[in-house]
Amino acid sequence: MRSSQNARQVRFSLTATDFGALLLMLLVCFALLLASSCPAQTNITGLWVLKIPTADGNVRKIFFDLKQEGERVSGELMFGPNRGRPISDGTFRDGVLHFVVKLGQPPRRVREIVYEGTVQGEKLLITSQYPGRAPIKGVAERTTRKALLPPPRLPLPALHEVPDNGLARTPPMGWNSWNKFGARVNDKVVREMAKAMVTSGMKAAGYAYINIDDTWEGPRDADGNITSNRKFPNMKALADYVHSLGLKIGIYSSPGPTTCAGYTGSYGHVQQDADAYAKWGFDYLKYDWCSETELYPISGHGYPTVGQMRAVYQEMGDALRKTGRPIVFSLCEYGWDDPWTWGPKVGGNLWRTTGDISDNWKSMIRNGLAQLAIAKYIRPGHWNDPDMLEIGNGGMTNEEYRTHMSLWSMLAAPLIAGNDLRTMSPAINAILTNREVIAIDQDSAGKPVERISSPAASQLVLARPLADGSLAIGLFNLADQPQSITVKWSDVRLNGKKLRARDLWKHRYVRVSGPSYTAKVPAHGVLLLRVESK
Ligand code: GLA
Repeated sequence: MRSSQNARQVRFSLTATDFGALLLMLLVCFALLLASSCPAQTNITGLWVLKIPTADGNVRKIFFDLKQEGERVSGELMFGPNRGRPISDGTFRDGVLHFVVKLGQPPRRVREIVYEGTVQGEKLLITSQYPGRAPIKGVAERTTRKALLPPPRLPLPALHEVPDNGLARTPPMGWNSWNKFGARVNDKVVREMAKAMVTSGMKAAGYAYINIDDTWEGPRDADGNITSNRKFPNMKALADYVHSLGLKIGIYSSPGPTTCAGYTGSYGHVQQDADAYAKWGFDYLKYDWCSETELYPISGHGYPTVGQMRAVYQEMGDALRKTGRPIVFSLCEYGWDDPWTWGPKVGGNLWRTTGDISDNWKSMIRNGLAQLAIAKYIRPGHWNDPDMLEIGNGGMTNEEYRTHMSLWSMLAAPLIAGNDLRTMSPAINAILTNREVIAIDQDSAGKPVERISSPAASQLVLARPLADGSLAIGLFNLADQPQSITVKWSDVRLNGKKLRARDLWKHRYVRVSGPSYTAKVPAHGVLLLRVESK
């Protein structure tokens, strides 16, 4: 009896509550509908990490920092702590996430990557569509801000001078994979390039190093040893092959946690990596700054201080020395903080002085001219590096490529070819293997070039004293039309002398008489002379 009464009461009171609750829900729903987010669903606000396994066996991480307000989604796509790109057109509607990330900035080409995602529990199933490529699918998981931070800073060593390794008494000559192949370099390409270096006559002309640039790296193994990725199945076997052709082989790394292309860097494993290179048989290391900036971002100009950068390079200089193997040490930090003043002190044989070269006249000339103010810092074993050659990559005329080769040789810059040696034309081969020009580059005195005053900004007259007492003279035409360029013998301390001058591109002596020499030089062209007093 009591219970049935209770039941009735309950039924009654439930009905009343139901009614009230229903009304309330309707009101809330109506309000939410107005805010266009009813019914409420998973809120995707937060930091997500998308791990994409790559074809070469690495895992690429991309972070999404998302903020959902109603159906609107804003935020950033992040490759690292300071490397974000805003997302646009972001929506989260009916469980489907959509947003766009724009790469590049006008006036340059802007590409839009479209991301679509659906929520499954605590995971986001994401498909990204890069224009013209197959869509990439992946699973993003929630992560913490800590995952975005660089690893803790390791103490830097006190500064000291690393003894000279005795290598690169003349500027290094060789080939590097980056300019032509970028991330498409692999074991096969390197082997074929080594072979082509021999068959093309480049080895005979003095080119010696076959250098693998970025993107060879795999993850570290359980003991922290660096591995090569699937593109390079056996580094030791590759080095043995290159050596069997009478050539030397080079490798690449960065002091930070990742390299410039986002592969495994040497951070926290400097000696271990140097030992691996030595064990595999490498003869040359290009050590490229990149992600160290995230660890040592000193305010002001945004770069690390000289002491920090020098200490980081010194650590690798010491590590290479400790291996006991002769390994050329190539510093690559784009000329930030004057590496020409401290490069030799960290055991460096060459140091990049500028940003990356591109295969066009403007970029090549900009990098080349930037060397003139710092020319005096070169000496045997220690060279300014205006970046690798673009000769033969197709973006300049052969006239301009001759200027490129001549300018680099006048500067005593490293001659590291960056083209496909297997398929180069005879004309490109002739430019790269011009022994008379190479002899200027490789002159044993290693003396700096001098800029001789010239009447027009579009003219560049350079002179460099050579070991045998002769003088290399370059008349460079920077203008878009042909022009006559003059060198006065008094300007190069050759006045009043009986002279013999040889044109190093035409391979013949030219007639010189009187107080000066004038030549008509083609647009973007050069006349390169070797002058001796008789
Ligand atoms: C930097 C260097 C280049 C090349 C790439 C590889 O940009 O300056 O020469 O090594 O990194 O990622």
